[in-house]
Amino acid sequence: MKITRYPPGPAGLPFVGHLFSYQRDPISFLIKAVRNYGDIVHFRLGPRNFFLLNHPDHIEEVLVTHNRNFEKKGQTPPARQVMGTGLLYSRGDFHLRQRRLIQPAFHRQRILAYADVMTNYGMETQERWQEGTNLDILEEMTHLTLRIVGKTLFDRDLESETGEISETFNLFIKWGLTPGPLYRLLERLPLPSVHHRQKALNQVNTFVHKMINERRTSGVDAGDVLSMLLRAQDVEGDGSGMTDRQIRDEIMTLFVTGHETTALALTWTWYLLSQHPDVEAKLHAEIDTVLADRPPTAGDVEQLPYTRMVFMEAMRLYPPTWRICRRVLRDYEIENYLLPADSVILICPYVTHHDSRYFPDPFKFDPERWIPKAEVRLPRCAYFPFGAGPRQCIGESFAWMEGILLIATLAQRWRMRLVPNHPVRIMLSVTLRPKCGMRMILERRKPSLDLKLTDFKSNIASVP
Ligand code: HEM
Repeated sequence: MKITRYPPGPAGLPFVGHLFSYQRDPISFLIKAVRNYGDIVHFRLGPRNFFLLNHPDHIEEVLVTHNRNFEKKGQTPPARQVMGTGLLYSRGDFHLRQRRLIQPAFHRQRILAYADVMTNYGMETQERWQEGTNLDILEEMTHLTLRIVGKTLFDRDLESETGEISETFNLFIKWGLTPGPLYRLLERLPLPSVHHRQKALNQVNTFVHKMINERRTSGVDAGDVLSMLLRAQDVEGDGSGMTDRQIRDEIMTLFVTGHETTALALTWTWYLLSQHPDVEAKLHAEIDTVLADRPPTAGDVEQLPYTRMVFMEAMRLYPPTWRICRRVLRDYEIENYLLPADSVILICPYVTHHDSRYFPDPFKFDPERWIPKAEVRLPRCAYFPFGAGPRQCIGESFAWMEGILLIATLAQRWRMRLVPNHPVRIMLSVTLRPKCGMRMILERRKPSLDLKLTDFKSNIASVP
């Protein structure tokens, strides 16, 4: 019989383990842990055993080849309030069923059809921009990507609602890393912030239920996710299947997952470009050569390899989903170490993406490292901003299309300069965010296209 033991790791305090140092600065804690103890590290957060895995082969084992031995870790209370048992957090057969149901919305043909909406909303945004404006580019990208999700997946132009919806999500995202018991305690207190958060969420809930009811009453099958969900509910007939509550959870999940991560990836891209004029110049050269003065289409994406490399490198340095957690279902052995049932596996794309074994000079922003097909030389899970295996991001192709088209559309006309002395610091909640937003000044590159707003607004038709 093999002898198994826990992997090495830092000795923690009695009872709390490393809760405080982890909460204070998770990334530094995890980077230091890997540096000092290697690719498999054991530590405790409170009474719970955590195992940080950093080697791409081990990551692949957990997420892909032996994924059945692990399940998604339960969500934090704020995530539960917003997304309930939507696709991101559901488990087992129920997750499989919901994933199969929603998958058609992300088939290749549909993503191609979404491209026009992505470019057109991008065009609208940049037409509105004014030379010299100082704005929070994260807020701009958030509104833009939220509108795109609303139109592509729910056939709804959210122009007037984006502010309220994204503000509500933000109120919850900020609490993403608060330990569950503390959050639940705070929720019971008569604090104005708790009241404000709940009120905002009620408003978004009302809006989503109105969307569901309107579509049901109209009987229109728009072929979008909302119609798919309603159709599935009808097929199940007796109501034992998907309730309105479940439909609401799936919609909220797609709203949240479908816009925030892409908005962050774009925000970090603009920031990195502003700090690397040489990369920015190459990007502009590619966009100008391929597009001249016309807006990009789905067909151009393949012709914009450098734009893709820039986006890819930004997500290496700042992976919006900075950690992925799994619960161990049955005792599991890796390299003769024991990972006991009910412990938590922590996988941190941020840490692995900065590992010099796979990415020489790992903190350098260097899109050239992604010269086409370079990634095939890397182990499968050395670069995985979208996760891997059966829980891999359902929206990955959507995000690539959207990221490349929006970079091309916006960089064709504008460059963004970081406001002098604006503090750029990482804040970790569920996602990796710039703590103080990203204040940038707009500089026009070229005169506006001859197109008028109305020309391309009329192109924003329903997605077939
Ligand atoms: C740059 C953009 C994006 C990044 C970095 C990203 C990242 C991720 C990651 C890492 C996961 C897996 C989490 C895990 O294994 O625990 C995930 C799951 C998911 N993502 Fe994305 N995502 C992005 C864009 C999108 C978009 C555009 C959509 C939808 C329109 C989307 C919808 C989802 C959903 C629904 C899941 C849960 C899938 C499941 O568990 O079956 N994501 N995403």
